[in-house]
Amino acid sequence: MELHPVLSGLISELLPDILNSLKPSKVFILVDEHTEEHCLPVLTKVYSLRPKSPYLSDLSEDQIITFPAGELHKTLQTVSDVWSLLIEQKADRHALVINLGGGVVTDLGGYAAGCYKRGIRFLHIPTTVLGMVDAALGGKTGIDHAGIKNSVGLFRMPEVVLTDVQFLTTLPARELRSGMAEMYKHALIHDRAHWDELKLKPELTATLITKSQQVKLEIVKKDPYEQGIRAALNFGHSVGHAIESLLLETNAPLLHGEAIAVGMICEAYLSERLCGLAKEAVLDIEKTLLDVYGHTSLTGKQKENIVSLVANDKKNLRGTIRMSLLHEIGTPALSIQVKDTEINEAVERYLALG
Ligand code: GLY
Repeated sequence: MELHPVLSGLISELLPDILNSLKPSKVFILVDEHTEEHCLPVLTKVYSLRPKSPYLSDLSEDQIITFPAGELHKTLQTVSDVWSLLIEQKADRHALVINLGGGVVTDLGGYAAGCYKRGIRFLHIPTTVLGMVDAALGGKTGIDHAGIKNSVGLFRMPEVVLTDVQFLTTLPARELRSGMAEMYKHALIHDRAHWDELKLKPELTATLITKSQQVKLEIVKKDPYEQGIRAALNFGHSVGHAIESLLLETNAPLLHGEAIAVGMICEAYLSERLCGLAKEAVLDIEKTLLDVYGHTSLTGKQKENIVSLVANDKKNLRGTIRMSLLHEIGTPALSIQVKDTEINEAVERYLALG
């Protein structure tokens, strides 16, 4: 599977050329309620201001597909609604879906397009930090099912990913911070110097985003189907996804990156226990991430459920729990077998940090 290109710059300059080269029979733009309000106007403007071409004729309302925002809507029901609309609008196999949004929109939109008529083309325009540095890159698409995050999905590459940092100006500070968790993760698994740079809490710039994108692209290029090194990108996600799922339907849900930050702290402890990560590095990770993300409390019941959720993770093998951990900051450890009791200890350790 060939890795998609990533182009960065102004969407008003990037999109017309892409549409003229892809020559879609019809374009559909998938948004959630937030990106419909804050980001779609940027695309509408591109369509209205550019010299017209067959691929930039005025957008009509029936080309915009909107669904409610949030992880709770990353479901088969939403995908089914998207398919129904595509059928209603007579989308053929040469149609193109533009996924304009954060990770929920790009994961779900890629999956919907990837299955429709056995796969139509799609491109991503990520509008969040998390989308730009992680979710939109590398061809993982999918939905949550039966309470398990990303449990159904496809590997399917977008035609291209277009990154325009102007979209980040529409985001609240909490969202920006959440997205940066994946940047910390990229640094921890691949680049010690980048970790030291991020620890200084620099202003989020296009250059930093590009640097983080490069880590992910380098890894996915080597292993698009996650047979080996790509699994390093799951650091923090085994425990993090479990915590995200557990809190999803409470009145204090965590954003994805916030849950991954908790996961990275727990998995740093497991890395010390199982892979020789130095104590000093664990303390460094704990301090840095707690400074940025604060501490999350869990009830006794929630704590008990973490292990069973981790046991459902896609990364597991023949009934054993497997995690991507760290040997050192900058060096991942893949497919490490972890016991239930060790996960409990890691969560206890995290709770004691509060
Ligand atoms: N988000 C992890 C990966 O794309 O492999």
